[in-house]
Amino acid sequence: MVPRFRSRALLFFIAVPHLPHLASATCECGYSVNKTTDPEYAVWTDLLETDFLHIDELKDVGWLPQVYNSTSSSEQSAYGKMAARSNVLPNPLKNSQDWAGESENGGDAGLQLIVRSELVDNMVPFGEVAARTREDMLYGSFRVAMKIGSVPGTCAAFFWFRNNSMEIDMEFLSRQLNSTSNPINLVIHTPESAANGFDASKTPGFNLHELPFQPDEGFHEYRFDWSPGRVSFYADGTWLRDLTDTVPDSPGTLVINHWSNGSPNWSGGPPAEDAVLTISYAKAYFNSSDAQRQSDFSKRCTSANATNVCQIPDQTTPPNNAGADGNSTAKTFFFSEDPENTRNQTVFDNWPSRARAIVPAQLFQTVSLAMCAASVCSFALTLL
Ligand SMILES: *[C@@H]1O[C@H](CO)[C@@H](O)[C@H](O)[C@H]1NC(C)=O
Ligand SMILES: *[C@@H]1O[C@H](CO)[C@@H](O)[C@H](O)[C@H]1NC(C)=O
Ligand SMILES: *[C@@H]1O[C@H](CO)[C@@H](O)[C@H](O)[C@H]1NC(C)=O
Ligand SMILES: *[C@@H]1O[C@H](CO)[C@@H](O)[C@H](O)[C@H]1NC(C)=O
Ligand SMILES: *[C@@H]1O[C@H](CO)[C@@H](O)[C@H](O)[C@H]1NC(C)=O
Repeated sequence: MVPRFRSRALLFFIAVPHLPHLASATCECGYSVNKTTDPEYAVWTDLLETDFLHIDELKDVGWLPQVYNSTSSSEQSAYGKMAARSNVLPNPLKNSQDWAGESENGGDAGLQLIVRSELVDNMVPFGEVAARTREDMLYGSFRVAMKIGSVPGTCAAFFWFRNNSMEIDMEFLSRQLNSTSNPINLVIHTPESAANGFDASKTPGFNLHELPFQPDEGFHEYRFDWSPGRVSFYADGTWLRDLTDTVPDSPGTLVINHWSNGSPNWSGGPPAEDAVLTISYAKAYFNSSDAQRQSDFSKRCTSANATNVCQIPDQTTPPNNAGADGNSTAKTFFFSEDPENTRNQTVFDNWPSRARAIVPAQLFQTVSLAMCAASVCSFALTLL
């Protein structure tokens, strides 16, 4: 047995620079929406947080640009659509210590998803990113901060996706927005909506909800909490609506896109000029359908109690970058900024203020897996 222990101890030495303060970590029993003492709360085991204000390339951040074509006939519309890498543009802040201010390429800092006005082969070029490293998201609380473009004729969508008949969406149609009316489309796609040509508007999984602000004038947080039998939608922490009909019950992933196919009943467009959707962050707290991740959780969470579940702060004000207070209002909370809060998570390290090495998710997971089952960690510490 001794050689096995030695090899673990060696691994511990190697792992140490990436995992400071192993012994005093928190959150090992998950992340909760509401306090665990509240009448209603949910605890999620895994997280994926991305701070697009400080990212200059989509490398090791958990989100990947999507590349595909969909013809006008498969869109059942006048135009097809073409997801291209060139329409996914990181645009970080010039000063990496700031949360507002000048961006590298001008305009609002954040990840830009662009819909082009010029067709290519009868398709509308557009931008899409997906959290392809995590196809195992099964229930959770999902949040994005974004500013909608004001050019009419696009659809800006933040959604959880399994397949065409299992999808949870928060969608903006820019043609629906004006100075007096600003609706968001809350949607659950079901076999019923798929049978209606993906038109959910005549099914119970649909709600057109007026917002009390103009989403093209600033950044706001859009959020949905998905639990068995219920999806609750929020904007800036204010509850909008629950949908409870045919709620998905299988794992999938998160997608953000900004597109147009000219369909008069939905996206409209194409837009008369290039249209930009800007995303400042995405935060997902979720349970995993993956057996390895579940086993990691049960190993690290040996005694669940209030002190090792971390409550997710509610974002109750717009995370806006404008005005004299922009630098403080655009600064929001990320567990992954502190390695102690994300032990054994597949986090992506893009924090400018910390000179930490980039740890590819897979390596991080493997290393921490080997080390951070509580018993092994404490054993290694004893050995040292
Ligand atoms: C958090 O608490 C509010 C108010 O009681 C409740 O409506 C909501 O469903 C709770 N969220 C979760 C995820 O339990
Ligand atoms: C913005 O806030 C951060 C910390 O929250 C601070 O380090 C930085 O100096 C601030 N920048 C400006 C321009 O005030
Ligand atoms: C979507 O996934 C669910 C769950 O696995 C499955 O029952 C359903 O047939 C799938 N639908 C499509 C259109 O693939
Ligand atoms: C805004 O849109 C609503 C809904 O389509 C419409 O009833 C209203 O007249 C529009 N307002 C303006 C100022 O265009
Ligand atoms: C999420 O996982 C935690 C920990 O295993 C569990 O207590 C909770 O019930 C799960 N939630 C759902 C909706 O499955």
